[in-house]
Amino acid sequence: MKPVEIRPGVYWVGVNDRVTELFEGLWPISAGGISYNAYLVRDEKTALIDLSKEMLSEDYLAQLSALVDIPNLDYIVINHMEPDHSGALQRVLALAPKAQILGMPKTVRMLNDFYGITERITQLSNGEELSLGKRTLRFVYTPFVHWPETMMTYLVEDQVLFSCDGFGGYGALDGAIFDDTCSDLGYYEAEALRYFANIVAPFSKSVLKAMAKFAEMPINVVAPSHGLVWRQDPGRIIHLYKAWSEYYHAPAQVGVTALLGTMYRNTERILSAALEGIAAEGVPVTVHDVRKTHASYILPDLWVQRGVLVAAPTYEGSLFPTMMDVLGMADRKRVTLKQAAYLGSYAWSGGGQADFERMAEKMAWEVVGGFGFLGSPKAADLDRARELGVQLARAVKA
Ligand code: FEO
Repeated sequence: MKPVEIRPGVYWVGVNDRVTELFEGLWPISAGGISYNAYLVRDEKTALIDLSKEMLSEDYLAQLSALVDIPNLDYIVINHMEPDHSGALQRVLALAPKAQILGMPKTVRMLNDFYGITERITQLSNGEELSLGKRTLRFVYTPFVHWPETMMTYLVEDQVLFSCDGFGGYGALDGAIFDDTCSDLGYYEAEALRYFANIVAPFSKSVLKAMAKFAEMPINVVAPSHGLVWRQDPGRIIHLYKAWSEYYHAPAQVGVTALLGTMYRNTERILSAALEGIAAEGVPVTVHDVRKTHASYILPDLWVQRGVLVAAPTYEGSLFPTMMDVLGMADRKRVTLKQAAYLGSYAWSGGGQADFERMAEKMAWEVVGGFGFLGSPKAADLDRARELGVQLARAVKA
């Protein structure tokens, strides 16, 4: 894609990545890709805000060359050192001998750690401003949105917030970069939630702290480093991120995420009975089969719904391994404050339920109930499961 002017003299110079299969080596993006957004502000001085992943350096340099004589670049603003944004830095530095790197104190050490860069660095402090001529950049320290060095940059006169990972989302930009010109806003919002649940969720408290720092700053455009640029309704993505972030310490939405693992369908049968009970209470349910679905797609529902039903058998004295993997990732991502229940078949000793309860306690999930059953579910087991579904649904609504 060509550069896009987002305000007079302010340009999106991002690149799309449709090649990487796993973002951070973990999260599937092969279906829709991702964008690494960067921005150029042309004034009496020229500032570049963020870069791209190293493998896309050529595309990125082509973007810059279309707008500016790279050797004349004055500033390279590093909002965040993760290499999806800083990977092209050495290439750009080599071509821009006058350019000064700007970043927070922890960025200085990381520049050496990642790239051996120790010169041409200006260390910033929170709230510091830099005049580019007619325009001013303000640098706001927003630690742990996503790493400890992370900051956001605010273009004062145009009220544009360059927020890096904050307010970002998966999904390459399909020829249109704005919330009002993209062809499927719902897709990008869903991919923003998946990105949030995969990457940002453990730092929810830091997101809310960052938002407080911007509370008094009017924002006309939210320009993150992944996903859409929000110019028609910047409040929309701010509202969504705020709502999602609140779930780290407050109950999420009414709904149940049902997780299924099964070997010979006995646990699937009992899950069906429990779902009848939940449906009878009018509570929405999303079912994920952990055997087939990557945790990346499960975490968003776990994060935004306050109920969890874990249905998985005992395997070699422990909870079904792929279910353990999903619960382990939920724990890592700090999925907490849930109403939860367990169901699962076992053949001799059991053990699945105990593992579930241990994980639930670790994540501060309130266990509404649960039981294991020998072999196949009998009529009494199915009735009990329906009743457990009702109990869980009522707890979620309470
Ligand atoms: Fe998009 Fe934390 O890097």
